[in-house]
Amino acid sequence: MRGAIVSSFLTIFVLLLRSTAAAEEKTCRLRPLGHGKDDTSQVEKAIANCGKHGTTIFETGSYNITRKMKWDLLSSKVDLKGYLNFPPNIDYWLNPNNTYRAIIIQSQASWFVVTGRDFVIDAHNTGGIQGNGQKWWSFYAGKPHNDGDGRPVSLSLVNVTRGEVRNFRIESPPFWANAVSQSSQVTYDGMYTNASSLDPAWEGQNLVLNTDGINTYRSSFVTLKNWDVTCGDDCLAIKGNSSNIVAHNITCRGGNGIAFGSLGQYAELVDIVENVDLKDIHVTRIDPKIQPLMQWGVMFKSWSGSVKGAPPTGGGGGTGYARNITARNVYVDRVDTPIYIHQTYNNDEHSGDLPSKLNFGGITYINFTGTASSDKIVDLQCSPGAFCHDITFKNINVTAPAGVAPQYLCLNTQNIHGLSGEHELGDTCMIVV
Ligand SMILES: *[C@@H]1O[C@H](CO)[C@@H](O)[C@H](O)[C@H]1NC(C)=O
Ligand SMILES: *[C@@H]1O[C@H](CO)[C@@H](O)[C@H](O)[C@H]1NC(C)=O
Ligand SMILES: *[C@@H]1O[C@H](CO)[C@@H](O)[C@H](O)[C@H]1NC(C)=O
Ligand SMILES: *[C@@H]1O[C@H](CO)[C@@H](O)[C@H](O)[C@H]1NC(C)=O
Ligand SMILES: *[C@@H]1O[C@H](CO)[C@@H](O)[C@H](O)[C@H]1NC(C)=O
Ligand SMILES: *[C@@H]1O[C@H](CO)[C@@H](O)[C@H](O)[C@H]1NC(C)=O
Ligand SMILES: *[C@@H]1O[C@H](CO)[C@@H](O)[C@H](O)[C@H]1NC(C)=O
Ligand SMILES: *[C@@H]1O[C@H](CO)[C@@H](O)[C@H](O)[C@H]1NC(C)=O
Ligand SMILES: *[C@@H]1O[C@H](CO)[C@@H](O)[C@H](O)[C@H]1NC(C)=O
Repeated sequence: MRGAIVSSFLTIFVLLLRSTAAAEEKTCRLRPLGHGKDDTSQVEKAIANCGKHGTTIFETGSYNITRKMKWDLLSSKVDLKGYLNFPPNIDYWLNPNNTYRAIIIQSQASWFVVTGRDFVIDAHNTGGIQGNGQKWWSFYAGKPHNDGDGRPVSLSLVNVTRGEVRNFRIESPPFWANAVSQSSQVTYDGMYTNASSLDPAWEGQNLVLNTDGINTYRSSFVTLKNWDVTCGDDCLAIKGNSSNIVAHNITCRGGNGIAFGSLGQYAELVDIVENVDLKDIHVTRIDPKIQPLMQWGVMFKSWSGSVKGAPPTGGGGGTGYARNITARNVYVDRVDTPIYIHQTYNNDEHSGDLPSKLNFGGITYINFTGTASSDKIVDLQCSPGAFCHDITFKNINVTAPAGVAPQYLCLNTQNIHGLSGEHELGDTCMIVV
């Protein structure tokens, strides 16, 4: 009896505590201060007050963010109905003191980093980040573009567990739109990014180098759904130690398509990429005056086995593997080479390089349709030091330009399914549709 009374008192006490906690869940609301004013302090204050166990609501409009910013979120919701606007003060942002080096890979810079766990950032398709990229792109025209040179990533998620970014827009990113690093269970549902240069002096040339839609690194269970990316580089770049990656309903406009890239760049690191599910992918060429490139549908690339210089700009010699990767329902529209693997030294690598030891295997391509703008529908040039193996093709029906015989090339491969013939060095493999 006495025990029961104590226990019901305890229950009431716990309920009281819980309702107090609920009542204390804070809400912060912001409006842009207006032209000429700096919003950085009010944004930092709101996130400090409501970013843990609270809700932060940004009304629509433009928030002037003039210095690097980090949000540490915990059990939190952010309604970002407006844009975080990062003014194009190029000299300022290029000073390494004024950005973070948080994502590690290639020492890339970030002006805005989100960390933490159990949060949702919802930009309602009316907000996100204004990157003011045009000034950056024109500033860099004709100058070298080096990895790690300080051009900032627009939105970086680092050390995140169970985070979600919804209906987010990144307008004119100067460099990569997104990066996710050292994170797990992250979902991006609804992401629009657009890097389109309107600088007439550079019409017909790719001025928007390195404007990747996203780079994933050292992260697992990352879901990318409903993306629309216009860029001049990788639409999605899946880099070292990315596993259990889902990408569904992705539109890539211009650039390089979906890339498994920069693998083997760090000689002392093992790059592991596995369990990747790509589905409903649309890769399309756009107006060549704005963006002349549309190189690949799904591509894999590794550095060669020789070490030449050091990252971020040089590298090579790293090992590892990419396996259990499926690309399904891929529509290509005037893409140069829809299916591509290169580990050989015929591009930026040099003869005399050691062959890559990075191994690609267990890759399935299902239902590729549309058109290629060259004769090479499939171009697999794997490493003599690590043959690509267990590659399966089903229903590959991509049309080459009129009057051109389609080419299906398999070099240094083994256990190819869906192609006829034995594939020795230099073989041309034939698709069985
Ligand atoms: C942003 O804030 C700075 C002051 O830090 C100000 O000089 C600048 O005009 C503001 N920009 C806009 C677009 O309001
Ligand atoms: C960065 O900050 C440090 C410490 O304040 C300073 O010594 C250095 O000169 C700054 N670097 C640049 C490029 O401004
Ligand atoms: C992420 O976590 C690592 C390891 O705990 C830490 O060194 C790093 O500073 C963190 N980065 C950020 C941006 O919080
Ligand atoms: C991307 O931006 C350019 C330039 O503003 C615009 O013409 C184009 O329609 C945009 N693309 C998409 C898919 O919104
Ligand atoms: C695919 O994503 C786009 C946004 O990029 C969205 O408008 C469309 O509704 C999505 N389609 C499906 C079937 O969910
Ligand atoms: C990937 O993970 C393995 C261990 O699982 C580790 O040895 C390797 O250094 C990691 N590579 C990178 C690029 O972090
Ligand atoms: C391959 O990856 C898929 C996810 O894309 C996963 O469901 C499956 O379990 C993985 N297979 C193996 C053998 O790990
Ligand atoms: C093949 O992919 C296209 C789009 O890329 C899709 O419309 C079609 O339904 C897919 N076919 C099957 C059998 O899934
Ligand atoms: C391949 O695609 C072409 C053009 O879309 C179509 O006419 C043809 O029927 C398709 N072939 C198969 C076997 O699906």
